[in-house]
Amino acid sequence: MAHKKPDPTPTKPRHSKSIDLARFLEGIGSPEFMSFSLDPWQKEAIEKIRQGDVIVSVPTGSGKTYVAVEAARHAMNAEKTVLYTSPIKALSNTKFTEFSKIFGPDRVGILTGERRVNPYAEMLVMTTEILRNLLYDAASGEIDFRLDTLGLVILDEAQFLADPERGVVWEETIIFCPSQTRLLLLSASIGNPEELTTWMSSIRPSTCHLVRHDNRSVPLRSGYLHPNGSLTPLFKTLDTPTSPKEADLHPKTKHLFHIYEQNILGPRRPLRRS
Ligand SMILES: Nc1ncnc2c1ncn2[C@@H]1O[C@H](COP(=O)(O)OP(=O)(O)OP(=O)(O)O)[C@@H](O)[C@H]1O
Ligand SMILES: [Mg+2]
Repeated sequence: MAHKKPDPTPTKPRHSKSIDLARFLEGIGSPEFMSFSLDPWQKEAIEKIRQGDVIVSVPTGSGKTYVAVEAARHAMNAEKTVLYTSPIKALSNTKFTEFSKIFGPDRVGILTGERRVNPYAEMLVMTTEILRNLLYDAASGEIDFRLDTLGLVILDEAQFLADPERGVVWEETIIFCPSQTRLLLLSASIGNPEELTTWMSSIRPSTCHLVRHDNRSVPLRSGYLHPNGSLTPLFKTLDTPTSPKEADLHPKTKHLFHIYEQNILGPRRPLRRS
């Protein structure tokens, strides 16, 4: 008898009601208007990048872009080139638009597999793979003149270092980064920032400084978006547990996981009650 082909787009589950986005985010609200003042960690990061490499490890939505912009401004004022990398083309495009508005379109360029705008600008946005390839060329003697004046490299979303497939690109970028260049790594989720700081200090000419804090300015809500479009809370509690276990999962979500697994992998085991 032929096996039934798994359906990759499962039908709407009958027993689980989804919640809408507004209800899911209820209670978060928006902050009161107040004049902009630097957070102490931002001040510290901006000061430390003038002395050596810096790893910023602070939660999502804390304001890491501000540190990137101020570090870039300082380097560009000293007539140095700045390279900003992100792991995703879409994010590189967004940052290109953002930085062009801040510094002016003539001073910012972008180099990805698909876009090449103003490639000799003072500040260049690119994917980390493109930068790694530039550094490879420099290491093989084919010096790209941009690297002569390279003052600052910003690696955004630096947690990609731990990615099993792409992590090597970040590792090689750090290793091959010219010695006169400052490295600024930004991330909300590096698991072992102290270890990374020690490693960078051991292979780079200047001491690497770690700037970290764990206070969330934007609360975190975890949800599960089923391929059929229904949204359910991921956990039983509104707050995300620090080390989540299966028992912490919301029963609706657990049910959806089960349906999804059955649709993709075929019938396996009955749903465990908890
Ligand atoms: N000191 C500050 N006080 C209040 N708001 C700030 C401060 N610094 C930055 N912001 C604002 O916080 C928001 C989030 O900033 P940003 O995108 O830089 O966060 P992020 O740390 O890069 O987050 P992610 O991890 O998602 O990339 C922006 O709207 C920014 O203008
Ligand atoms: Mg960011």
